[in-house]
Amino acid sequence: MKEQDGSSGTRTGTDRREVPGTGRGPFHGGWADTNRRLPLLSGAAYASKRRSVLSERFPGERLVVPSGGLKVRSNDFDYTFRPHSAFVHLTAELGTQAVPDSVLVLEPTGTGHMMTLFTRPRSPRDGGPNGTEFHSDRRYGEFWTGRRRTLSETSAALGIEAAAREDLERALGGNVPTRVLRGVDAHVDALVAPDDRADAELEVLLSELRLVKDDWEIGQLRSAVDWTVSGFQDVVGELRQATCLARGERWIEGTFNRRARLGGYGLGFETIAAAGPHACVLHWTRNNGPVRDGDLLLLDAGVEADSFYTSDVTRTLPVSGRFTKAQRRVYDLVHAAQSAGIAALRPGARYGDFHEAAMRVIAEGLDAWGLRPHGATASTPQADLYRRYTLCGSGHMLGLDCHDCGSARRETYMDGVLEPGHVLTVEPGLYFQPDDLTAPGELRGIGVRIEDDFLITADGAECLSSGLPRDADEIETWMASLR
Ligand code: GLY
Ligand code: MN
Repeated sequence: MKEQDGSSGTRTGTDRREVPGTGRGPFHGGWADTNRRLPLLSGAAYASKRRSVLSERFPGERLVVPSGGLKVRSNDFDYTFRPHSAFVHLTAELGTQAVPDSVLVLEPTGTGHMMTLFTRPRSPRDGGPNGTEFHSDRRYGEFWTGRRRTLSETSAALGIEAAAREDLERALGGNVPTRVLRGVDAHVDALVAPDDRADAELEVLLSELRLVKDDWEIGQLRSAVDWTVSGFQDVVGELRQATCLARGERWIEGTFNRRARLGGYGLGFETIAAAGPHACVLHWTRNNGPVRDGDLLLLDAGVEADSFYTSDVTRTLPVSGRFTKAQRRVYDLVHAAQSAGIAALRPGARYGDFHEAAMRVIAEGLDAWGLRPHGATASTPQADLYRRYTLCGSGHMLGLDCHDCGSARRETYMDGVLEPGHVLTVEPGLYFQPDDLTAPGELRGIGVRIEDDFLITADGAECLSSGLPRDADEIETWMASLR
């Protein structure tokens, strides 16, 4: 749909044309008062605690954390808005309510910080600045993209003082030491002179603050995983249908994505629906191939909840419902590797332990098959030597980002120690490329990954995705029950 007057899609119009004989524009007056009283969101108190931690860490400094804005998809259409994860973590803002170009500012006071969320308020209906936005602005107008909260509604919902984004420039003035989460909002970046070291430190802290999940976040992750389990069940129910279509992978993708939109805000990442040899491509999201009886389907997918917390689960399923002998051989080895990785999850373990445990099993298995890579000795778990067949690491932190806490320092994440409240994936895989002459013929074109989501508890780990079977026999029984 285009604006009738053909004006630019992004600016606020200045349409003050009158209805002949009335002296008024067609949108003038006659609107009911629809202001609402909104309850505090369930995550708001948790977000407030996180802001306090941030405040204590940087006394006397102004901290600026933008949400980011809309990104153009093509011409005058944008991608669905998704705020930056650091912003979400500090506000507990929810999916459809999130407002592009919002900016959280922590202003230092004598005792801590005053927190203000600069955001776009509901478009006014009564003339004045932005007075025509509600009907004429296709990017931000209420009649084009839906109602936003008023500033007082935002304050009530998030428990943060809210101000108009227009006032941000003034708020960022003065001679106050300021740290900005850079690269999220170009306008904010331009308003504050960079201090590379200080800004980078803020980015690292915002990432590390997210390593340990609180009870509310764990609840959100459980919900994301539960919807993901439902999506996998849907896919198994529609596998047969997918085999009848030239682009059956797209059918699988659509089936999962429908569940993601129904249960959550959408996807944590583009769905990987990889049938046959496509399973040997780690991030196969083209999804334009057929799904053939006798092949494996590797489905790596995750629902992102309305709170933006995501799940990330992979199952590799025999399309026919039964593994072939060669497929099962690979599957069982990956399953054993994943089980060893899972057994290594406990508080106090090094983060790298689960990967090493999984790799040891893979290395021993490949060695037993006579597939020892050049340079490897018997049973060596050195990951690099097996990379030709394993391609990547065996897991990652999970949370607001699928690959969560990406800016955390090595010593707190990769070289760190597992703690209660960490949530992570364990996802070893084996991939025999169709053209890999070092692999036995019957294994070429087989790719298997098994991925589950785990919460580190006080004395071990809880599998959040245990609603899906892992073992090959259980997979076959489960598939038979759903078809
Ligand atoms: N599920 C995609 C990944 O972990 O890379
Ligand atoms: Mn993953």
